[in-house]
Amino acid sequence: MAKVHMDRPSASYFYPWPLVLVSCVSTDGKPNIITIGASSVCSSNPPTVGIAIKPARYSYGLIKASGDFGVNIPGPEQLEAADRCGWLSGAEVDKFAETGLTAQASRAITSPLVAECPVSLECRLIQTVPLGSHDWLIGEVVAAHVDEALLDEDGRFRPCSEQALFCFGGDYRRVGDQIAGWFFTR
Ligand SMILES: Cc1cc2nc3c(=O)[nH]c(=O)nc-3n(C[C@H](O)[C@H](O)[C@H](O)COP(=O)(O)O)c2cc1C
Repeated sequence: MAKVHMDRPSASYFYPWPLVLVSCVSTDGKPNIITIGASSVCSSNPPTVGIAIKPARYSYGLIKASGDFGVNIPGPEQLEAADRCGWLSGAEVDKFAETGLTAQASRAITSPLVAECPVSLECRLIQTVPLGSHDWLIGEVVAAHVDEALLDEDGRFRPCSEQALFCFGGDYRRVGDQIAGWFFTR
């Protein structure tokens, strides 16, 4: 393999990005959704997740003011809505009304969740890391809601490969076929 040394280091060489819908709410109770490609699990105990948001975004101000946000994992049925939430601004439109998605009350946070998404996590903002173009917002997952169709008979979470979506280059892609299990070489 001949690797080319790229002139400009860029985060775009890091792939794929899981596609998530982050839900939030204004101080006067208006719910909003922002599409986020840059996100990750941060720790499993306590459970934390991180999202990268530009400080200039309308949603950024909402999350900083409320101190919480929802992370909703969309499936293919929510893809069109997810794309729209990635260019419309909650400063100008009601994205729930625009997309037909339903704002569902959370149990432990003020931000709503997206009812149609098969997985929704309630996150309390615990750290903000300023990095430049984006800040990394770390949320502790204080409650989780999972579509019962994703649970096996013993109540264990079994994610469905047809459901998860990734940002890949400038495209949206599904998860591919299973090729091995973790530690299959052990
Ligand atoms: C696929 C996709 C991924 C995106 N990922 C991010 C991201 O990781 N961070 C970010 O700040 N904006 C991201 N955006 C842009 C925001 O979703 C977009 O600017 C949105 O309109 C902001 O909404 P708001 O004004 O209601 O906050 C992404 C957009 C798309 C379409």
